[in-house]
Amino acid sequence: MSTDATIKTIAVIGAGQMGGGIAQVAAVKGFETLVYDAFPKSLDRAKATHAKRLAREVEKERMTQADVDAALARITYASNLDDLAGADIAIEAATENFDIKSDLFKKLASMLAGDQILATNTSSISITRIAAETDDAAPRVIGMHFFNPVPVMKLVEVINGIATDPAVTQRTIALAEALGKTPLAANDRAGFVSNRVLMPMINEAFYAWMEGVAEPEAIDGIMKLGCNFPMGPLRLADFIGLDTCVNIMDVLAEGLNSDRYRACPLLKQLVTAGRLGDKTGQGVFDYTK
Ligand code: 3HC
Repeated sequence: MSTDATIKTIAVIGAGQMGGGIAQVAAVKGFETLVYDAFPKSLDRAKATHAKRLAREVEKERMTQADVDAALARITYASNLDDLAGADIAIEAATENFDIKSDLFKKLASMLAGDQILATNTSSISITRIAAETDDAAPRVIGMHFFNPVPVMKLVEVINGIATDPAVTQRTIALAEALGKTPLAANDRAGFVSNRVLMPMINEAFYAWMEGVAEPEAIDGIMKLGCNFPMGPLRLADFIGLDTCVNIMDVLAEGLNSDRYRACPLLKQLVTAGRLGDKTGQGVFDYTK
C-alpha cells in the first residue's frame, strides 16, 4: 500500500502497452485503478492481457488465485474520461503526441481540480510545456516515466517541470515506491536521461545497419554478448515501436537543436512502410512466422 495515504485511486489514461502495464502494477499493489482509453478495442486488449499476465503469476506461484481475483476486481475499464473523476492521481500514458497530451491535460486539470497529481508518462516531451497547457494546475504536473514491460522494469524516472510543487514530487516518489519501483530524478531536458542516452544508441545501430557495418542479427548479437544487453538495440527498437523511436529522435533534435539527433533514414523508411515493430508484426525483424 502507498506510504502516501492520500493516494488510493489511480487513473491511467491510455490502455496500450505502457498504460496497461501501469494499471496492472497499480491494481496488484492494492490501488483502486481506473483505466481509460478512447478505443474500446484497446480496453478489451488490456483486459485480456491483465488476465493472462496475472494467470501467469499464479502459475509461477508468485500470487494466489485469490490475490489475482482481488487485483482484477480493483480495475475499472472506462471508455469515458468523466469516469476518472474520483481519482487521486492521473497517470497519462496516451500516444506520444503533444497535441493529444495538451488536450488531455486541459480536460484532466478541470476535472481533477483539487490537489490531485497530474502525471505524464511521456518519454521525452517537456513537462513544463505540458504543464503550461493547464494554466493554474502547473504545480501539480510532473513526469512519471515508466519502462516497458512495466511489471518487470524497476525504474520510474521522475521529472519536475519548472513549476512542479516539491510536495507533489515527494508524493510522486512515495507512490513510485509503493508501486514497487525505484524512482530516480532527472531534469526537464529533451529525452530526460533515459532516452537522451538510449535513443541515440538505438539510432546508431540503424546507421550501422544502413552503412553495412553488419547485418541486424550480428549488430544485436554483438551488443548482447559484448555488452550484456538483454536485447540487442534493433530488437529493442522493435519492442519499443519504430514510430516511437522516430518521435523521440525528433524531440531530441528539436529540443537539443542539433543534427546529431536526426533519425536515421533507414529507421524512418521502415516507419513509412508501416513496419513499426512488434505491434505490426514486422519491424527490423519479422514476427509473423
Ligand atoms: N509484461 C509483463 N511481463 C513480461 C513481459 C511483458 N510484456 N515480457 C516479459 N515479461 C516477463 C515474463 O513473464 C518473464 O517472467 P516469468 O517467466 O518469470 O513469468 C520475464 O519477464 C522474463 O521474460 P522472458 O523469459 O520471456 O524473456 P527475457 O528473459 O528475455 O526477458 C525482458 C524479457 C524483461 C523484456 C528482457 O528482454 C529485457 O529486459 N529487455 C530490455 C527491456 C528494456 O530495455 N526496456 C526499456 C525500453 S525503453 C522504455 O520503455 C522507455 C520508453 O520511453 C521508450
